Amino acid sequence: MKLLEDRIREDGLVLPDNVLKVNQFLNHQIDPDLMYKLGEEFVRLYQGEKITKIVTIEASGIAPAIMTGLILHVPVLFARKQKSSTMNSKLYTAEVYSYTKKVKNTVSVDQKFLSKDDHVLIIDDFLANGQAVQGLIDICNEAQAELVGVGIAIEKSFQDGAKLIKEQGVRLESLARISSFAGNQVHFVGDENN
Ligand code: G4P
Ligand code: NA
Ligand code: NA
Repeated sequence: MKLLEDRIREDGLVLPDNVLKVNQFLNHQIDPDLMYKLGEEFVRLYQGEKITKIVTIEASGIAPAIMTGLILHVPVLFARKQKSSTMNSKLYTAEVYSYTKKVKNTVSVDQKFLSKDDHVLIIDDFLANGQAVQGLIDICNEAQAELVGVGIAIEKSFQDGAKLIKEQGVRLESLARISSFAGNQVHFVGDENN
């Protein structure tokens, strides 16, 4: 998606350890117009599919997820990383190991919000090693929900996440695909000279 790639070129900052900082529009300050356009693109890509629910993970997945849900008029369910004091009911849980933070989180959703009747589109902001998305896939499987596919704003294609998802036969659509940060520049898949 050219609009997103241009915005990453303009405002993205390449940090050490292959991390892209996009605090200008996604991970701290949020550009709602851009997020809405991401939502429209996910909806276009998954046109013709039955989707009853968007599933994401807090915090940064919520912005693109909620725009997608808004356009489709379906609820947006975000997995929580901390157990909420108001979540007393039964939970679906998954272990998510973060390579960047070197911590294992248990993520969970209330069982009453996900069932075998749901047709789920998973949305997240970043795809790196894919552990967060894998946790959401595990939760959908546990709930016996139908997984329509995964939509990612920014995929770091040189890491293992995309392969991990696709080798399970799950459809993956990423709006910007980064092939490398060589020379501290952002190079996208399909660019010349990358
Ligand atoms: P993984 O889920 O794909 O395995 O990623 P990993 O554990 O490596 O990443 C942990 C967190 O860092 C996730 O956010 C993920 O979205 C984010 N992340 C991964 N690579 C990048 C990157 O290059 N740039 C930025 N800005 N974020 C990246 P999180 O901890 O769940 O935090 P949040 O959603 O509350 O922001
Ligand atoms: Na993040
Ligand atoms: Na995220």
